[in-house]
Amino acid sequence: SPNPGLLATSPLQASQPVLELSYSVKDAKRSVNAVPFQLPTQLISFSYTPDRVLEFNDSAMRYFVDPPRGAQLSYGYDRWVRRPEERGRIDSLLKAWQKFGTEHPGALGEVGVVSWRGVMTKILTAPYEERDGWELNVMLVNGTMYFEEYLAEEKLQSKNDIEPRHRIQMYYGYSFESWCTSESPSPASHPGNPIQSTSDGHPPGWGGDVNTNVQWCSVVKTKLGNTRMVIGGEVDCVRGRYTGKPDNFVELKTSLTIRGASDEARFEKKLIKFYFQSFLLGVPEITVGFRTPSGVLSTVQRFRTIEIPRLVRGKPGAWDPALCLEWGDRFLRELRIAIDVPSVDPTPTPSLDSEKDGISSNLPVWRVSFSPK
Ligand code: A3P
Ligand code: MG
Ligand code: MG
Repeated sequence: SPNPGLLATSPLQASQPVLELSYSVKDAKRSVNAVPFQLPTQLISFSYTPDRVLEFNDSAMRYFVDPPRGAQLSYGYDRWVRRPEERGRIDSLLKAWQKFGTEHPGALGEVGVVSWRGVMTKILTAPYEERDGWELNVMLVNGTMYFEEYLAEEKLQSKNDIEPRHRIQMYYGYSFESWCTSESPSPASHPGNPIQSTSDGHPPGWGGDVNTNVQWCSVVKTKLGNTRMVIGGEVDCVRGRYTGKPDNFVELKTSLTIRGASDEARFEKKLIKFYFQSFLLGVPEITVGFRTPSGVLSTVQRFRTIEIPRLVRGKPGAWDPALCLEWGDRFLRELRIAIDVPSVDPTPTPSLDSEKDGISSNLPVWRVSFSPK
């Protein structure tokens, strides 16, 4: 059941031995065991307001609208309210899980892993990662592993210290979200509708200035192999009506327009991240806006998440999701063995009830670090 005591002040510094991993698809066996992954179902959703206040409602949920082709993705760049990069602490995910647990006592049973979707995406796609390593803090409370990405101070600073050229490219992604979404499902805000008013001074189809504090998040339960997981992540918008289920969630992505075979291979390689990011929350649709280098939206393409693996199979940028799931399952099992070993350092069971300000400082944190081969 949810652990309120884990909220807020868990330590960042690993006190336990590091588990160092390096794994490449080149190490993989020829045959892959199929590890089942349960279709995610939503437990609860929440919103962050423009001031980054967490609210248990759907105020930040957006509806998909077809974006105007030729839209300028740099539009509104100077008005971007940018949330600084921060460490991906799991506090709000825990709050959401705690709320769900209070409202549905005993509904979940034993949970093996609690994590943001971004962390699980990094774990599952590691076999194909050629460039970026990552580090993870793992905390163990009553048999549940809590994952948090660990960013060393230098890494956090460099993430906030982006070159202007990269900064604008980053903005293109958020701007696309604005061009593609509306606060209401009403057709009045549809760019193709002639009633569309431009009295707000913005070009038709603009969904509002970008404030990256605002996010709508879904928390789901799912299962990889024998490990039950609670995963939280941002959902960009819904298509049509919101049903409280991931059935019509949409992930929005931008990518450079494909001009040749090498662009295509690059895009197919990138699809592994799009795929797992969406798959983990049960998001069935990924809509990609293809853009010019200077940020003009050229075409828009809808992908069905489950069809993406078949799309890349046998292609130059191919990857195999079954291999990722098998690796992920093995990763979880080996991690569990590694941190359960009592002879490393006898782990005191934290008495969470008596902890007023979060996790006790004697709770061990394990560090897992992955570097690509
Ligand atoms: P694109 O993915 O279209 O480039 P998300 O796609 O996860 O909803 O994120 C929205 C946007 O945030 C991305 O749009 C990108 O601009 C930015 N973004 C997300 N993750 C990022 C990362 N790891 N590094 C840089 N920018 C990132
Ligand atoms: Mg998003
Ligand atoms: Mg997106």
